Amino acid sequence: MRRRDFVQVSLAVAAHAALQVPATHAAAPSRRIPYGSAVRGDALVDDYDYRTVLAEHCQLVVPEGGLKWVVVRPSEDRFDFYEGDKLLAFADQNGMKMRGHTLIWHGAMPDWTSSIRGAEAAEKAMTKHIHTVVGQYKGRIPSWDVINEAIAEDPRGSDYLRPNLWLENMGKGYIETALRLAAEADPQAQLVINEYDIECVGEYYENRRNALLRVVHDLRDRGAPIHAVGFQGHLKGQYEIDKEGVSSFVAELKAMDVDVLVTELDVIDNLLPADEKERDQVIAGRVTDLLEAISDANPPTAILTWGITDRYTWVPTWFTRDDGRLNRPLPLDRDYKTKPMMDAIKRFAARA
Ligand code: XIL
Repeated sequence: MRRRDFVQVSLAVAAHAALQVPATHAAAPSRRIPYGSAVRGDALVDDYDYRTVLAEHCQLVVPEGGLKWVVVRPSEDRFDFYEGDKLLAFADQNGMKMRGHTLIWHGAMPDWTSSIRGAEAAEKAMTKHIHTVVGQYKGRIPSWDVINEAIAEDPRGSDYLRPNLWLENMGKGYIETALRLAAEADPQAQLVINEYDIECVGEYYENRRNALLRVVHDLRDRGAPIHAVGFQGHLKGQYEIDKEGVSSFVAELKAMDVDVLVTELDVIDNLLPADEKERDQVIAGRVTDLLEAISDANPPTAILTWGITDRYTWVPTWFTRDDGRLNRPLPLDRDYKTKPMMDAIKRFAARA
């Protein structure tokens, strides 16, 4: 099918509310932490069971790819909100909220953006993108990952930010500019800086936490709108959570009136034991450790996993197992059966 036909067919599907599932979804009691999942737009249309488990378990959804530049900006002049609108319709129909992911990231950029050169052109492109995308969903997407993965892989000294189009053209101030643009477009939205590898034991993780704290302190000093830090939480199952390090990091953020949330939780299990029961226990343990360490200082405003079922996960793209067994990084297995990871999240969300 040509893309144009596909879009029309699928739009028709969405328009006729075929994404609806039986009303199993009870509104979240007000004091629990909302749980949610990243969602794949194609599976949402094709897989009824997937829609059903999302509606059953989630109070939140976030598009896994549907709001990234490569999808939303096929060309400089065009915005394509098909995927975002489709997921928002599903969320609305099932009493869930949707998060926005992501406005500024080095990844998933369409080729045409590589010709953007100079501070003025970069700021112009950034302004058009953030104003249009956040504006499109004003009042309907209450939380945005404005900045994604801004910290350098191995931050040292003055090189603590990751090189990207925006840093190269606009300098370090690009982060503040992006946050201000998002606040202009939707003054009510929670604006988030989202980061990976900030939760485990070791110098590498500690350096990354410190670099991120430096960014947030700078923003606060300048009065920039930053409301929360997102722990992506792509946990490497073989490493321990630095419970003290995480708690003091969250406490330091709290002292600046900056919240935290968990945005992309999964447990990368390529180096964990082959036995599934044993593996699932380690995974649930890591998740519990992270959630407890955060909450000891300040409970997260939300917990989202990067997918809900092992059937649809990005993990095997990078972390397949040598023994040929399938990865089990998410709360439900490939047949949508609940695993200990889901129990750990639910227990935690309910008790908060
Ligand atoms: C990943 C998606 O899961 C993949 O399907 C896609 O091919 C690449 O991006 N950190 C992020 C997410 O912030 O956007 C990434 O998502 C995973 C790592």
